[in-house]
Amino acid sequence: MTISSSQAQTEKNELFFNVLEERRSVRKYDNTAVISDEEIRELIAIATKAPSSSNLQPWRFIVVTDAELKAKLLPIAYNQEQVADCSAVIIVLADLEMYKKVDEIYSSAATAGYVTEELKDRMIANTTKQYMALPAERLKEIAVFDTGLVSMQLMLAARAKGYDTVPMGGYNRAQVVELFNINERYLPTLMLPIGKAATPAHPTTRLAVDQIAFFNEMK
Ligand SMILES: Cc1cc2nc3c(=O)[nH]c(=O)nc-3n(C[C@H](O)[C@H](O)[C@H](O)COP(=O)(O)O)c2cc1C
Repeated sequence: MTISSSQAQTEKNELFFNVLEERRSVRKYDNTAVISDEEIRELIAIATKAPSSSNLQPWRFIVVTDAELKAKLLPIAYNQEQVADCSAVIIVLADLEMYKKVDEIYSSAATAGYVTEELKDRMIANTTKQYMALPAERLKEIAVFDTGLVSMQLMLAARAKGYDTVPMGGYNRAQVVELFNINERYLPTLMLPIGKAATPAHPTTRLAVDQIAFFNEMK
């Protein structure tokens, strides 16, 4: 790597760190701001570069842009105004039977030339067997964990595009399931309003690294 290209790389990294610093939970949104479906698709495509267990990608998304539907989310989210005022609410769901897409996933890897046909068939058989043998509680743990990873990437991708977000667990899950008639295979994990801030987020602090990170031991 030449000096100038490594400098360019350092500058790119700095921009990434700025995005990390700038993501804050915004709760007041400009209710006139619109984000196109296309842009939301693009954000989701970037976010789904997230890693997942066996690359099973157990995340699903309901994108709510319709004003009437957003208004219906308001009481479900205990009247947290951001769900009505933001441009879109993305409801992140965990697919508790994610292994059922294994065929599609490894076939696409084979089509792309990343695995041989033989390896693809072996991966499909092994993964299906392995995941089907897992207790439901473990499958849920895996799926929920992976939706956390994709949600984080979604928030950072949104910030990099100039949008704000707030991750929300404060909503009535049963009512979301009822509103969208969601099959029990899918578990709503996070509600994620996205839009343009009308008021900046309030600052927050973090625990000191020495209180949370222990080298070569657990304190
Ligand atoms: C799983 C989860 C659930 C959350 N639920 C809510 C919520 O229902 N309403 C809300 O205003 N903020 C919610 N938050 C945002 C946190 O309060 C916020 O991330 C935290 O205070 C740190 O602030 P920051 O995001 O601005 O750095 C949630 C965050 C997470 C990760």
